[in-house]
Amino acid sequence: MRVLLTGGAGFIGSHIALLLLQKGYDVVILDSFVNSSSKVTKAISNYLLTKSFNFNLNTITGDIRDKNLLEKIFNDSIIDNKPIQTVIHLAGLKSVSESLTNPLHYWDVNVCGAKNLIATMNEYKCYSIVFSSSATIYGLTDSVPIDENHQLSPINPYGRTKVAIENMFCDLYKSNMNSWKICSLRYFNPVGAHPSGMIGEDPIGIPSNLFPYISQVAVGRRDSLKVFGDDWDTDDGSGVRDYIHIMDLSEGHIKAIDFLNSKESCFEFINLGSGNGYSVFQIINQFELSTGMKIPFSIQKRRDGDVAKCFADIKKAKKLLGWVPKRSLEQICNDSWNWQRRNPHGYK
Ligand code: NAD
Ligand code: UD1
Repeated sequence: MRVLLTGGAGFIGSHIALLLLQKGYDVVILDSFVNSSSKVTKAISNYLLTKSFNFNLNTITGDIRDKNLLEKIFNDSIIDNKPIQTVIHLAGLKSVSESLTNPLHYWDVNVCGAKNLIATMNEYKCYSIVFSSSATIYGLTDSVPIDENHQLSPINPYGRTKVAIENMFCDLYKSNMNSWKICSLRYFNPVGAHPSGMIGEDPIGIPSNLFPYISQVAVGRRDSLKVFGDDWDTDDGSGVRDYIHIMDLSEGHIKAIDFLNSKESCFEFINLGSGNGYSVFQIINQFELSTGMKIPFSIQKRRDGDVAKCFADIKKAKKLLGWVPKRSLEQICNDSWNWQRRNPHGYK
């Protein structure tokens, strides 16, 4: 079965690509490489070659807003006699701060890009899509755990583009309820790396998220971690989040494809998180255990747009997808560190 993986060279996409290939899927990655390295697909191939795996990976450099290119990809797949049966749509921009300074660009890439993609799918009668949504759409709430019925109130343009795409899916589904199979996965905090240490997270520039930042402190690329507030209403005063191992998240996508394949039609939105909340200080402690090093940090004022606690209710994922996250915080930190220490400068 052929899967089109948009954004497949990114942090999340690269791990999903590897898993899909290991499961025997034929994978076409479409990525513009605006936020990823061209070395990613080589790293995926190298890993599979070391395991003597036969695999079918085709990487296309291009933009999801390029309709002609999308049509060519679907058309070529038909000519190959391997029509694209499912799309996993991850391509998009994800920086909260950048979305505040350049909102139209976010609407263009995320929303117009998604519209272009689903319009092309419609033309080629490919009706099955898994979409990467985000817990950011729940907005500023401390009412945890958060389930899928929680009110949506995103507080930044990035989050609003995710809601707009979910709404677009909803309208599309209602217009043709016999055909479309849509699963919008709302990720909490995907972190960690493939246990081989051959692929992992490699943000461009200064990381804004906790895990890549703390990893770069541990490897000596940054002096010290800034802890954004120790006066939150949490047990130790630092912010609590739901960190989910990237391999658990990737497995959730395989389960989502299985789920869609078992349906005539459907539209579901499903949280993917660990279901547990860990504080920044707990992460620092575990990182120190995993690295055997002291992590220098300083307490700073709270970051705008942060909440005290955010973690998922994952009952729906368990029930509908039969998916349960298996990896511990220890494994997350061990794998993050394994990747960072083997690749101090990422893919460079
Ligand atoms: P990433 O930036 O590493 O990956 C996104 C990929 O999309 C990159 O390789 C980038 O080059 C590509 N891309 C961007 N614009 C494109 C375009 N116009 N055409 C083609 N390719 C394009 O990000 P990620 O962390 O892997 O996130 C993947 C998806 O998951 C994103 O949609 C993001 O919003 C969503 N998400 C991520 C997180 C997270 O914490 N990482 C949380 C929730 C949701
Ligand atoms: C952030 C984004 C969110 C996005 C998510 C995944 C903001 C306000 N929120 O969420 O929209 O969906 O990333 O990409 O940007 N922390 C530090 N020091 C750091 C970095 C983070 O103390 O250098 C703290 C934060 O205050 C928070 C926790 O670590 O308590 C996790 O932060 P982060 O990794 O940025 O994730 P989110 O805040 O969940």
